[in-house]
Amino acid sequence: MAQQKRAQFATRLGVVAVTVGSAVGLGNIWRFPYEAGAHGGAAFILLNLLFAFVIGVPVMCAEFIIGRHTGADVRSAFRKLSRGKLWGCVGYIGIGASILILSFYSVVAGWTMEYIYRSIAGFGAAHTAEALHMQFDAFATSNVRPVMWTLIFLACNYFVLARGVEKGIERVSNVLMPMLFAILVVFCIHSLFLPGAREGLLFLFKPDFSQITPRVVLSAMGQAFFSLSLGLGCLITYSSYFSRETPLMKTAMLTASLDSLVAILAGVIIFPAVFTYGQAPAAGPKLVFEVLPAIFSDMPFGQMWSLLFFLLLFIASLTSTVSMSEISIAWFCDDLGMKRRTATALNIGLAMVLGTLCALSFGSLNDMRVFGLTLFDLFDYVSSNLLLPVGGMLISIFAGWFLDRKVVRGELAPSSAGGRALMRTIVFCMRYVAPVCILAVFLAGLGVF
Ligand code: PFF
Repeated sequence: MAQQKRAQFATRLGVVAVTVGSAVGLGNIWRFPYEAGAHGGAAFILLNLLFAFVIGVPVMCAEFIIGRHTGADVRSAFRKLSRGKLWGCVGYIGIGASILILSFYSVVAGWTMEYIYRSIAGFGAAHTAEALHMQFDAFATSNVRPVMWTLIFLACNYFVLARGVEKGIERVSNVLMPMLFAILVVFCIHSLFLPGAREGLLFLFKPDFSQITPRVVLSAMGQAFFSLSLGLGCLITYSSYFSRETPLMKTAMLTASLDSLVAILAGVIIFPAVFTYGQAPAAGPKLVFEVLPAIFSDMPFGQMWSLLFFLLLFIASLTSTVSMSEISIAWFCDDLGMKRRTATALNIGLAMVLGTLCALSFGSLNDMRVFGLTLFDLFDYVSSNLLLPVGGMLISIFAGWFLDRKVVRGELAPSSAGGRALMRTIVFCMRYVAPVCILAVFLAGLGVF
């Protein structure tokens, strides 16, 4: 078969920026604090960390091995490596899940754009938590603005993605990721000086294991998969652009560590503020949109803090949605032979249609329920709690049991005794720990036992 020259990330720093850029997103700054808040804080966080390293890192290595070895999109990667048609379905699960996630995720990213706008224009007369709650509700349940922002956000994705892997994705991540870390650190320092800092940090770091139920365990695992962008082939696609010199185990460990760090820092930012201003940590998905503006409005230079925070959320969202889109764009281009611009337009166009439906599911489509869930909640639940864990389990079984051992060793390429020990541990987790844990947690969470 003729070998086409494939795009590659240009630098080692670029590889870290795009991978961490994919992992760090709304999952860390929006989803993680409200999940932790609703599930008792520290115990949830510990579980999440456990899943990130014991299951997340091995599954991430599995994705990296498959992606770099084949140098192909997720669908072609499985086709190249396996003769059976069944494994090819894993590719389709990933492509389907990525479009579902992109659709609901863009709605929340659109909310952040509305809040960037409001930070500049001012929140009007609303200062109290109740007034801001009503303001958020009025906005989210209206029809025009949430849809408009969802579409604008998706259009921003188009402009990054259409420029290609190196000139678009890598360059944008190289600039935005350091900015994101800088803004995070400024916020953390500020939060630590709030009067409620002690209470907030205790909530965040003092575990109450009585809160742990099978559903909480499933949520913590779903959160780990979501947060690390695992289970749908996003990192198979990205690693197909890695060079042979990229150390896979190191990149996986670094990504999991930085991703967990950002989630915890987001908690350090949010909970001291929540306790200082007497808010409820379990406020749910609206936590950052209702609680934080109330807090900002009380602070000196509140408008500037607010702008900075929502800018942070926007940056984090953009580098993540770009990585989700790349899954199907790579498939459209590599496998179906489309031009990059056409493939990007198709992906973004599809997300615009589904994203509009998700945005409207808070407003005029709120009565349209499937299994009692709105479209937004359905897309979130099906992708994070069902498709990602199942996809992750299949990917790790494939790399652990079906892939030639020589390929696994050649890709992980340990260069020291410590590296070899780490490789053995990762392969063990890939073969046994990850599949068994994922299946058990999955069935328990669904109430099977
Ligand atoms: N990891 C991203 C976040 O935490 O916001 C979400 C995500 C990105 C999920 C890419 C899946 C994906 F393929």
